[in-house]
Amino acid sequence: MIKVAPSILSADYVNLQKDIEKVDKGGAEYLHIDIMDGSFVPALSYGPGWVKAIRPITDMVLDVHLMVDQPERYIDTFADAGADIIGVHAEATPHIHRALQMINNKNVGAEVVINPGTPVSFIEPVLHMVKQVLVMTVNPGFGGQKFLPETVEKIAQLNQIKQEKGLDFDIEIDGGVNSETVVAAYKAGATVAVAGSYVFNADDPVAKINSIKDATK
Ligand code: DX5
Ligand code: ZN
Repeated sequence: MIKVAPSILSADYVNLQKDIEKVDKGGAEYLHIDIMDGSFVPALSYGPGWVKAIRPITDMVLDVHLMVDQPERYIDTFADAGADIIGVHAEATPHIHRALQMINNKNVGAEVVINPGTPVSFIEPVLHMVKQVLVMTVNPGFGGQKFLPETVEKIAQLNQIKQEKGLDFDIEIDGGVNSETVVAAYKAGATVAVAGSYVFNADDPVAKINSIKDATK
């Protein structure tokens, strides 16, 4: 069964605590927090203050996805705010190895993220350093986009490298995930599924979490 990481990007910001408690009680293992800088991606979202505010209200794994240029500028701040996992895009810095070292030095789970157009080979040299790899299943920047099926092959490639090298990172997918699209990704080796609009735009978010889990039994 896949672990589920609801993305608060599609939550009700005015009633955020209510939405977070709902998915926490509903069995979500992670809470996915999307940080957008208006440069690496066009949109602006929110900053470390949100992570700090959320930290005391839940024990879920706080999974912080940095869609920002030169993410190494913000690693210490998000670690100190209470992130459990910090994800940095391989495309966002010429120093991905250093960025992952910085995350590990803060004793936070290090995650490397790749866009749909970035091959797995690009991150092979750093796979031994990470707790999680995030394979974007849409182009980053917005919720509510359509899952790109061509990304599934990259999940399978990563899973193969994982077995061959005896590594034990999680493989997370993000973008366009629902109870149908998750199936092929799960079969290919995905272990964590981010879901934003599918969960929070529904009348019953917990039913949507369960439907993702049921589809991957
Ligand atoms: C997109 C973000 C996602 C987003 C997913 O750039 O990284 O985490 O919230 O939204 P859905 O699940 O609606 O595609
Ligand atoms: Zn995300």
